[in-house]
Amino acid sequence: MTNLDQINNLEHVDKQSMLRHIQELPDQIENCWEEMKSFVMPANYIKLSNVVILGMGGSAVGGFLAKALAFSTSKVPIEVVNSYHLPNYVGPETLVIGLSYSGNTEETLTTFREAGKKKAKLVAITMGGELASIASNFKAPVYTINYGSQPRAALGYLFTAVLGVLSKLDLVDLGKDDVRESAVLMRGLATKLNPEVPTYQNEAKKLAITMEDKLPIIAGAGVMAPVAYRWRTQINENGKHLAYSLELPELCHNWLAGLKVPQPLLKQTYVLFIQSKHENERNRIRQNIIGQILRKQGVKYDIISLQLSGCVLSEMLVTIYLGDYVSYYMAILKDIDPTKVEEIEYLKKQLS
Ligand code: PA5
Repeated sequence: MTNLDQINNLEHVDKQSMLRHIQELPDQIENCWEEMKSFVMPANYIKLSNVVILGMGGSAVGGFLAKALAFSTSKVPIEVVNSYHLPNYVGPETLVIGLSYSGNTEETLTTFREAGKKKAKLVAITMGGELASIASNFKAPVYTINYGSQPRAALGYLFTAVLGVLSKLDLVDLGKDDVRESAVLMRGLATKLNPEVPTYQNEAKKLAITMEDKLPIIAGAGVMAPVAYRWRTQINENGKHLAYSLELPELCHNWLAGLKVPQPLLKQTYVLFIQSKHENERNRIRQNIIGQILRKQGVKYDIISLQLSGCVLSEMLVTIYLGDYVSYYMAILKDIDPTKVEEIEYLKKQLS
């Protein structure tokens, strides 16, 4: 295992600058929010019965996060579709947001075309590709992402652009300074997580080392559920490491009962609960009780809470940021380029 404090040449492993993209996440969020101010949507889009966000993988994460953030404020239901099929209710009063970094993702293109045929109100968020062409054919607005990276490394654009669209329609309640506050807090956290900070003072390096020989299971409630999911996908894609995510309080009603077999796997499992100061107090109590059960079964676990004074958005983004750094160090520990996702590319090639 590579010693994270004796890295002389990170570029040797991180050949496509994943670290730079992680460090640029606060800039992405601020740039996108600024650009969204001049993004115009047709006046008739204000009359809506529901919202459906289409996306897969790294792009879908932006939708899941936005849906969770808007949960308590949106007057209409918001759904994320990450499959080939639209819900039957999609029609002229549905806002359909096509979210695809590349603009060429098969499932997203299928559902976006279908939504156009059903006369839904369309918006595309993409770098271009086929999605932008379909949107233009339907005379729908396109927010063009002007940032070159892997889809997952452009989360700042994918998430913020959806928030921009939702806030123009009064579906999400963001304070005037929430985006700026988030970026400032993320930059502050980066100074504590960057490679020059030694392991004994660096929470991301410590967590990466803890998880490296384990099966990580990340769990969160409410807005932290999609954050836990982002941790999982980043550990999978950057860290090249098997991981799963779970949602509270649901896991208390099923997953808990399975903590018996297979025993060798239980010893290899590491559960990380991500707490939020905005979540229901009962979930914290649940986590403590689950902790007792995990200890009894010999499963290692931790609870993290960044306990910021800030808004919900900043709490979500700062926690995502920690997970992004953890996933990065997990790749470095293995001496593997965090950017490459050979299996995903192979599968897409075979399908085409
Ligand atoms: O991280 C990845 O590369 C994937 O999860 C992609 O995001 C996913 O395959 C969808 O592609 P896109 O985001 O370009 O629509």
